[in-house]
Amino acid sequence: MCGIVGYTGTEKAEGVIADSLTLLEYRGYDSAGLALAGSKSRSIDIYKCAGRVSDLRSLLDRNMKLEDREATCGVGHTRWATHGGVTDTNAHPHRVGTVTLVHNGIIENFRELTEEFRLKGKLKSETDTEVVAGVLDSFYAESEDPKKAIVQTLKVIKGTFALVIMFANYPDVIFAVRNVSPIVATQSEQGSMLASDLTALTRFTDRYFVIPEYTIAELHRSALYLWTMDGKPVDPEWCTMDWEKNSSDKGGYPFYMEKEINEQPDSIRKTIESRLKNGLPDFSVDEIDDSIFEDTDNITVAACGTAMHTGLVFQNLARKMLKTEVKVCLASEYMYESPVVGDKTLLIAVSQSGETIDTLQAVKYAKERGARTLGIINVRGSSIARECEGVLFTNAGPEIAVASTKAYTTQLSLLYLVIAKIAMVKGLWDDKKVREFTESLVKTPESVSNVLEEKNDIHIIARNILEARDLFMIGRGLDYAALQEGSLKLKEVSYIHSEAYASGELKHGPIALITQETPVVALATQESLLKKELSNVREVRSRGASVVLFVKEAMSEGLEQEFNIVRLPDLPDEFMVFPAACALQLLAYYVSSDKGFDVDKPRNLAKVVTVE
Ligand code: AGP
Repeated sequence: MCGIVGYTGTEKAEGVIADSLTLLEYRGYDSAGLALAGSKSRSIDIYKCAGRVSDLRSLLDRNMKLEDREATCGVGHTRWATHGGVTDTNAHPHRVGTVTLVHNGIIENFRELTEEFRLKGKLKSETDTEVVAGVLDSFYAESEDPKKAIVQTLKVIKGTFALVIMFANYPDVIFAVRNVSPIVATQSEQGSMLASDLTALTRFTDRYFVIPEYTIAELHRSALYLWTMDGKPVDPEWCTMDWEKNSSDKGGYPFYMEKEINEQPDSIRKTIESRLKNGLPDFSVDEIDDSIFEDTDNITVAACGTAMHTGLVFQNLARKMLKTEVKVCLASEYMYESPVVGDKTLLIAVSQSGETIDTLQAVKYAKERGARTLGIINVRGSSIARECEGVLFTNAGPEIAVASTKAYTTQLSLLYLVIAKIAMVKGLWDDKKVREFTESLVKTPESVSNVLEEKNDIHIIARNILEARDLFMIGRGLDYAALQEGSLKLKEVSYIHSEAYASGELKHGPIALITQETPVVALATQESLLKKELSNVREVRSRGASVVLFVKEAMSEGLEQEFNIVRLPDLPDEFMVFPAACALQLLAYYVSSDKGFDVDKPRNLAKVVTVE
């Protein structure tokens, strides 16, 4: 999950790369570094350190050679450590001999390669990456041909990689090659550039292409080339970003997370509006044929984290509204559960980044066994998007904060449309019922806006749980599904050990953990479950817990006498997940920001998990 960038062009490389690393820092922020070339001395100078990009900038201010300030070619890296601790030495770039490179991924046979190429004496770090540099340098020493050395290296390394490489004798040229780990690239008047994802490329242009796997990219100042492993030229498949340029800045908010929470009404609206025609779900703009739903009779959602939580909501709705069973699998577990997969299986892969390797592997596993595959994805051109038979793209724009917010609600909005589409193609609902359903969906952006208007009330609630070490979130049915996501948000940005629990299950053990120091967040939006939910809330309160009850407005009458409540704007029960999600996102955000944490970059996390 590291951030990688390479640039060769007319601008000063140090500025382009450092700025790009700041934009990519959400992919990993244990350490940062860059290498600069193209200077007269023909040396490639490396500057790197443990810490953030800001620490790298300070290092550059102190130590950068004068001639490097004029360098116009370089590579950069922000690291999420996989091999070797967080140290200056283990930071990327790494150099062995004439080869300098950065890497995102995991080389599985780096120990064998260290022996085979007798690299022990040459290595300074504990990383698998430095071993690749050593192997490349060994091959380059034989031929002094960069592309030949790369091809030879690709034949011996095993694992996932995005390698961005510089050779001392080619100071204005950058080479790159990938397997699974992503690299996108572009060419503009300012030069040639590549990066782990589009966020860093919006600076110069909205055109880009994905470097195909096992294809060598050769970037020059005013041209770029793609070569197959046997040396044949390949044309890039150019795409256009559907993001506004520079939409990757904070827009005046202190953190991206707050910006992205506030973007949700617009992003949900944008995601829905192009898929509704005359009130009926229509995926023709996505070129998704109805047969993907008609010809399948069992549905599995495979995803991770927040994306998986959308599957829990989808499962609840499918059972309740379509009388249709849906399996929801943690993508990292999917293939190890020996799932029953066939040509009647529809695998729905939900992923913001489209690069989560666990989810990608699940898609490949299901496809190999004949399943139809549908992606619900935010990033065009991503690996999972390219792997799936069909993709519904969320129109959320770049999501930079590690904690996923607008991706969740836009993924949900597409899954709600899938519910309506299945109901139509399977003949379960008439058009009138479908329209009633979509009319409620179209109201969700406004309900989220209403929650945003009440954010100060939620901020006050947040202040009451700042000191908590443990916290329970309790609810039933759809509320329990929504709380799984609310609990993850709080956990990952505030470090409070929050646990979502089915309210009725607490008394079977976990209630033993309830004390006066254990705040409880309860969610009640399902009319039919209110009485039971209130009984469970009384149970935990009688054991000393302080409880805040998020409750649907229409169900809240009189409850303020007995409980500390936050009212959520009314929608039909099945749609209350949207306002509830926004309220719980705000709760997590305010707890984290009031605790003084870097909300966008929580410890130990990275935005995209490209290691299994
Ligand atoms: C959610 O806030 C986390 N950032 C994480 O759980 C994330 O949802 C998960 O890693 C899946 O990422 P994806 O949607 O890019 O596949």
